[in-house]
Amino acid sequence: MEHEPTRNLALDLVRVTEAAALAAGRFMGRGDKESADKAAVDAMRLVLSKMEINGVVVIGEGEKDKAPMLYNGEHVGQGQGPELDIAVDPIDGTRPLAMGRTNSISTVAIAPRGSMFFPGPFVYMNKIAVGPEAKGHIDIERSITDNLKEIARVKSKSLEDLTCIILERPRHDEMVAEMRQAGVRIRLIPDGDVAGALMTAWPDSGIDVLFGIGGTPEGVIAACALRAMGGEIQGKLFARDEEELRRGREMGYDFDKVLTMGDLVSTEDVFFAATGITDGELLHGVKYFGDGASTDSLVVRGLTGTVREMKATHRWDKLKRLSPIDY
Ligand code: FBP
Repeated sequence: MEHEPTRNLALDLVRVTEAAALAAGRFMGRGDKESADKAAVDAMRLVLSKMEINGVVVIGEGEKDKAPMLYNGEHVGQGQGPELDIAVDPIDGTRPLAMGRTNSISTVAIAPRGSMFFPGPFVYMNKIAVGPEAKGHIDIERSITDNLKEIARVKSKSLEDLTCIILERPRHDEMVAEMRQAGVRIRLIPDGDVAGALMTAWPDSGIDVLFGIGGTPEGVIAACALRAMGGEIQGKLFARDEEELRRGREMGYDFDKVLTMGDLVSTEDVFFAATGITDGELLHGVKYFGDGASTDSLVVRGLTGTVREMKATHRWDKLKRLSPIDY
């Protein structure tokens, strides 16, 4: 066996995203991305440090915009227990959170050491992601139209019935034009392509496929989630300019290589957790009441495919006695 299976860390893991969401949710609409990020990172780091794992952060978010971050290579956990790769995105959708908008979530994924793709400093990746029904029927090397036709065929839908999700960015103008030409419905999202990828595997979301260029760390986290939920993602590193391409080549990165699900996370033995910070299609946001707050999370275990939806009520009088986190 390639990796020793981990014990069920689902409950431990969801506490990590709950803590980040509780801390970051205070900053909804405050226009202060930096403080929101710091609150989420600090809370996440603290709860991760209590876990009985020997973890190394492989995907630490923040390099793109120099936000507070859990650093790549940072050791987390008590140092005993399973040796793990950790991927964190303390806030996916920092801007929507700061602007008081929807679909901001906190996410984390873990898998045995050495199983996650290390993207180095290369921040963007072109992606295509689908849920279980269309798994095995996508190819990032083919055109958007060809992919759409195949997804429609395998889902027994017409193209008009398909709904794509894509970040609203000028770099996607041509892709969106091709989708419009194909006649599909399009959800243009201002931010948050981890949630977008998750929606493709979420039965009630009505989203069939995610396309487009988003963060590389977000791509690896989405791969962990889709691995566990039975979907599929493919990616290709995307260079912003010739200089980045040259640097990547020097460092041994191949921008033409299709990164399959197996390249992005090489094992099914993966856990993924997400907690809503602001209200969204997948998860409710944090609600604060006088003496506590409620959170809405999901946690997925790849080995078993179990998806747990977890609503939790947190009580400040007890929590604040146990933890220095500033909720
Ligand atoms: P952060 O909230 O972590 O900054 O990420 C938001 C996000 O929309 C991601 O979901 C997405 O992958 C990435 O930013 C896209 O990058 P950009 O905003 O530079 O197009």
